[in-house]
Amino acid sequence: MQNPLLDIREACVSYSKRHFFGRFVTHFYALDKVSLQIQPGESVGLVGESGSGKSTLGKVVAGLVPLASGSLSFCGQLFHGREFCHQPLRLRKEIQMVHQDFHGTLDPKMTIFTTIEEALILHFPENSRSWRRQRIEQLLQQVGLSPAMAFYCPRQLSGGQRQRVNIARALAVEPRLLICDEVVSALDVSVQAQILNLLSSIREQRSLAMLFISHDMAVVERMCDSLCVLNMGKMVESGTTDEVCYHPRDPYTQQLIQAVPDL
Ligand SMILES: Nc1ncnc2c1ncn2[C@@H]1O[C@H](COP(=O)(O)OP(=O)(O)O)[C@@H](O)[C@H]1O
Ligand SMILES: [Mg+2]
Repeated sequence: MQNPLLDIREACVSYSKRHFFGRFVTHFYALDKVSLQIQPGESVGLVGESGSGKSTLGKVVAGLVPLASGSLSFCGQLFHGREFCHQPLRLRKEIQMVHQDFHGTLDPKMTIFTTIEEALILHFPENSRSWRRQRIEQLLQQVGLSPAMAFYCPRQLSGGQRQRVNIARALAVEPRLLICDEVVSALDVSVQAQILNLLSSIREQRSLAMLFISHDMAVVERMCDSLCVLNMGKMVESGTTDEVCYHPRDPYTQQLIQAVPDL
């Protein structure tokens, strides 16, 4: 078996919580000894109810939240504590994240062109403007948008189109791992299907690894090779998608599956 692209061992993340108008502060573990591996090109799903720690784990992988204990290794390099939050630009480029389409994931004053160009300038500073122009045109086509949309602002786009721009921006720097955190939760069902199809075809073309976070069992079942189930910060089950969906061992997973109407 090849070396995993991402290897998380016994990761803990603690947050502080204020009580009684900020007079008492306590700490709690949003992630408690969570281990997870992603192989190159593999799509791993992370499911669990709201508040179970899914986004926290996504943020750990994106280098936005430090570990209280445990370790993370990416591309064979080992990190503890805060180290992964200060990863060099070269490594940061390899992991990109797409969020739920909140208003605010795209800067309302920037055109789509400038939004994507910003990422290209940061990670490929030596390349020319005409290279960037060509690349942006290509990227928009790949995510099913017309190149003319490069000069639109986010408010001129639908939710599904904005999510396509977010995907184009993430792909612009050619990451090896894409974190998708509830990417279709805010979209209509028909648009959800289009975005999921787009992500599947991109994954096939690029053999891109994915950490696919969703509270929706049906969505991860469709998108992922293997699944991890989180409940209150603990990993209660993991296995191939078929194992977890059709032979769940943990009562919490069984409950999640029963809540899906037609799985
Ligand atoms: N920045 C933060 N500070 C304090 N608590 C947080 C913070 N972010 C998340 N939490 C808490 O951590 C827990 C897990 O949150 P989150 O990872 O967002 O869960 P999920 O994505 O599964 O809904 C929740 O109880 C949430 O309230
Ligand atoms: Mg979340």
